[in-house]
Amino acid sequence: MKTLILSAADRNTPVTAAKIIQAGGLVAIPTETVYGLGANAMDAEAVSKIFLAKGRPQDNPLIIHISCAEELNLYCHDIPEAAWLLASHFWPGPLTMVLPVRDCIPKQTTAGLNTVAVRCPKSEVTRALIREAGVPIAAPSANLSGKPSTTTAEHVLNDYGTDGKIDAIIDGGPCEVGVESTIVDLTGKKPRLLRPGGVTPEELTALLGELEVDRAVLGQISNDAVVRAPGMKYKHYAPSAEVYIISGSSEAAAAYIRRRFTDGDAVLCYKEELPLYEGCNPTAYGSIQDIRTLSSGLFAALRTLDRPEIKTIYARCPEGGGVAYAVGNRLKKAAAFRIVNAEAEE
Ligand code: TXA
Ligand code: MG
Repeated sequence: MKTLILSAADRNTPVTAAKIIQAGGLVAIPTETVYGLGANAMDAEAVSKIFLAKGRPQDNPLIIHISCAEELNLYCHDIPEAAWLLASHFWPGPLTMVLPVRDCIPKQTTAGLNTVAVRCPKSEVTRALIREAGVPIAAPSANLSGKPSTTTAEHVLNDYGTDGKIDAIIDGGPCEVGVESTIVDLTGKKPRLLRPGGVTPEELTALLGELEVDRAVLGQISNDAVVRAPGMKYKHYAPSAEVYIISGSSEAAAAYIRRRFTDGDAVLCYKEELPLYEGCNPTAYGSIQDIRTLSSGLFAALRTLDRPEIKTIYARCPEGGGVAYAVGNRLKKAAAFRIVNAEAEE
């Protein structure tokens, strides 16, 4: 069986894709963050196909996608005021909330937790599909487990091919945000940031008044640790090469990298820095003048650099809050938190 490629612009796409979802199939869906690999969140068997296709550990729960905030009541209980407040500001958009789950969501979706992560994505075609299917869609990022997330339909095809490993892909073009959604856990005493994304810590704090940052966001977590977002303990988003983040000024970093650069190495930098890396196999993932270009370009660049002949990647990483906080988090994870200050090493 072949994988169907559906265009987001085709008005029949939501109906065609909804039939596949209702029949227990897998559909890759575009969202403003990254592409997801979707199935009916209420159908345990369909959900288990996601884990199989991705090679994802069963203890890593999925996000369910809904078409509007009101649907929260159907799948969650004891919803705090803060959730409605966040929904009214950021949905549809790149924010996921963890809330107490109702029994109608099977354990396969939540990995047996008593909470569920819920998001209302911005993509019109994906919300039309959810409405048409009449069920929430469980969808992790569509990448094969351990690969960088997919931010174009082509990335999804590269991971799964067209011979029916997944039933359909909806091509909605490149993802605007490019890193996965911000996750906030609202089940504890204080709201807690489990994963930074397009909705920034500053925006959340301004609305909620307080925000704790989970330790999984801040550093490397060992594989047997108990963490709030089970997925955070896996070494995510990593290409096969070893990644080193080289901090410091453009000039100091370039001097450091050029001294060490050998065949089989590559450089991941900002567009403005390309002239500093002639002969050093540089790839730019965006402009340091506009952090949103770095977030939308990061995973595509990591995918280009994910080639067996590349052994070491020296990467430049933005610092600070806002969206840079999310970009920095993904790059640091890809680098397993190996960070070198070029200015201290001269
Ligand atoms: O932007 C996104 O969120 C994308 C698109 C497709 O919506 N999805 C995504 O899913 O990034 P995934 O599975 O790659 O990442 C979901 C993260 C994992 O780290 C998982 O452990 C965590 O959310 N998670 C899911 N359910 C949870 C829960 N009930 N409590 C805490 N963390 C949860
Ligand atoms: Mg993922």
